[in-house]
Amino acid sequence: MSRTVYVNGEYFPEEDAKISVFDRGFLMADGVYEVSAVMDGKLVDYPGHVVRLHRSLSEMKMASPVTDDELLEIHRELIRRNNLDEGLVYLQVTRGAADRDFVWPVGVTPSLVMFTQQKAFEDSEGPRNGIKVVSQPDIRWGRRDIKTLQLLYPSFARMQAKAQGADDAWLVEDGFVTEGTSNNAYIVTKAGTIITRNLSNNILHGITRASVLALAAEAQMKVEERPFTIAEAQNAAEAFITAASTFVCAVVEIDGAQIGEGKPGPVARRLREIYLANARATAV
Ligand code: PDD
Repeated sequence: MSRTVYVNGEYFPEEDAKISVFDRGFLMADGVYEVSAVMDGKLVDYPGHVVRLHRSLSEMKMASPVTDDELLEIHRELIRRNNLDEGLVYLQVTRGAADRDFVWPVGVTPSLVMFTQQKAFEDSEGPRNGIKVVSQPDIRWGRRDIKTLQLLYPSFARMQAKAQGADDAWLVEDGFVTEGTSNNAYIVTKAGTIITRNLSNNILHGITRASVLALAAEAQMKVEERPFTIAEAQNAAEAFITAASTFVCAVVEIDGAQIGEGKPGPVARRLREIYLANARATAV
């Protein structure tokens, strides 16, 4: 079934949607994006995604193509037109179309493209059985806190992981895990403390991460924000990832070493449950 997508102020059947060949997103990955989850036809953690979008735009010295009210309205209209009950809304803002040049144009109207993707969160294999990850060097640029369209290396690293029989890669820099290719990374010590890397320019400041850490603190779980190594992760009681596209998903193998009992552990399962309940209760 053809989706309805949004391009610069209009809704189109996906096969009729068009963007300029001179769009700087297409030519130079000159743009930023957000992915928000949808449950029961409502947006999960939406305010956080909008705040991060504004931060990405401002760091890239780009203007917002629409107001926040309009942005929410487009999200809702896409959900409505596509009858989306469970899935994702993808949005990307690019600097706009201009003759190819490393000097970016000033005063060009930014482009906004948005579409939906169906995805079953509750009934998905990854979180049910846990995923396997392998380590790969983190050779991305140094501003991973900005959610830019430059996803070639994360995609490459994910393909390398697949070629090694794993589901994803955990990226390692200077001996420490930064994050997954499209998710934040966590371990749980044998004493039950949740460890995840502290925020900096080296990782994306996950919106799911912020919610999960707040929920963990509310549930009296101990959290430490600091870097960890692959060796520490391999000896941990549990490991897991978070992202808008997967919520909380256990990691059961790292570089061939089984984590805990090789199935989702109690902390990851509990956090997933708490997160899902909160997501449903707070979705807009
Ligand atoms: N990725 N780290 C990276 C590098 C990411 O790309 C993502 C999200 C996250 C998790 O952030 P959040 O909890 O806000 O989704 C961490 C999205 C889902 C994607 O690219 O599809």
